Amino acid sequence: MVDSFGRRIDYVRLSVTDRCNLRCTYCMAEEMEFLPRRDLLTLEEISQLAAHLVARGVKRIRLTGGEPLVRKGFTDLARMLGRLLDSGLKELTLTTNGTRLPAMAQELRAAGIARANVSLDTLDPDAFARITRGGDVAKVVAGIDAALAAGMAVKVNMVTLRGVNDGEIVTMARWCGARGCDLSLIETMPLGHVEGERSDTYLPLSEARELLERELTLTPSFHRTGGPSRYVDVAETGRKIGFITPLSDNFCAGCNRIRIAATGTVYGCLGHDQKVELRDIMRSSGAGALDDALDLLLLGKPQRHQFDIARPEPATHRHMSVTGG
Ligand code: GTP
Ligand code: 5AD
Ligand code: SF4
Repeated sequence: MVDSFGRRIDYVRLSVTDRCNLRCTYCMAEEMEFLPRRDLLTLEEISQLAAHLVARGVKRIRLTGGEPLVRKGFTDLARMLGRLLDSGLKELTLTTNGTRLPAMAQELRAAGIARANVSLDTLDPDAFARITRGGDVAKVVAGIDAALAAGMAVKVNMVTLRGVNDGEIVTMARWCGARGCDLSLIETMPLGHVEGERSDTYLPLSEARELLERELTLTPSFHRTGGPSRYVDVAETGRKIGFITPLSDNFCAGCNRIRIAATGTVYGCLGHDQKVELRDIMRSSGAGALDDALDLLLLGKPQRHQFDIARPEPATHRHMSVTGG
């Protein structure tokens, strides 16, 4: 699949639910309406769609949410998708808040998920409870340990927020290093309305890098994952730190992805509303109609997002929890 700017699209982010058992303040509003369950694709439909996309050249699928592990039958779905690793899919990955990993990591690893990104913005129990509106940081740490014990490569995702967790960036780098995880630092993106001004907490990652360089030795790395992170090697820990800079250093020219929401709506860009509905087409028409719908999406896929942290209105009213980032 190629878009109208000549970009090869071989990476799909597949959201399996918009629900989450946490409610991070930068991700969700205090009051959120979730999608009615009857509107979701069934697990079989998700698997059928994934197979269709792999046949069209998709090499990587990342399962996301909301929190993907709260979707009933998620392990069965992972097994179904894992079978695609024998027919062209190169990588099946997961982005999760980690809380359900203690019970699920072994089976997910066996299903073919070799890499998981776990969101963890702070190690401080009080700060974690504030950011997630009541979450327990110990559960996430247990989840990370369970994934590592199951043989998954784990990367910690830290949305860096000024005045909230910027004092912990170096601590987090050392903690991840000691546990054998890489770390991704992420600039907060204006997606959906949340309480407070996002501009108050926005931290350009050049500042995070300066903080890190006061205490650690960073050297640029050629390592890439297919995601937008640019990596450095950390001499002191032997691990990598990735920088995801949608606001301060745009990476859309290298975009390789589309996103599918749990309802079967496919979005061309995280920061735009351009979309095509696939669910009814899948239920009533054949593979040809599905291909036409995907081609229509590719034709209209936006060139780049227009995030502007200074504007009070978000780039789109869709929260990150609908398309999983
Ligand atoms: P790998 O590189 O495969 O490890 O994954 P990733 O870092 O791309 O995925 P993950 O789900 O962990 O996402 C980390 C952050 O990157 C989230 O905040 C995502 O919203 C953000 N992100 C991922 N893809 C895009 C993208 O295409 N555009 C923008 N603006 N942000 C993205
Ligand atoms: N901006 C940047 N990152 C976000 N995430 C959730 N909402 C936002 C946002 N508005 C992060 C989560 C998770 C990843 C999928 O996206 O913390 O790690
Ligand atoms: Fe849930 Fe993840 Fe959003 Fe937090 S960032 S509310 S854990 S989907």
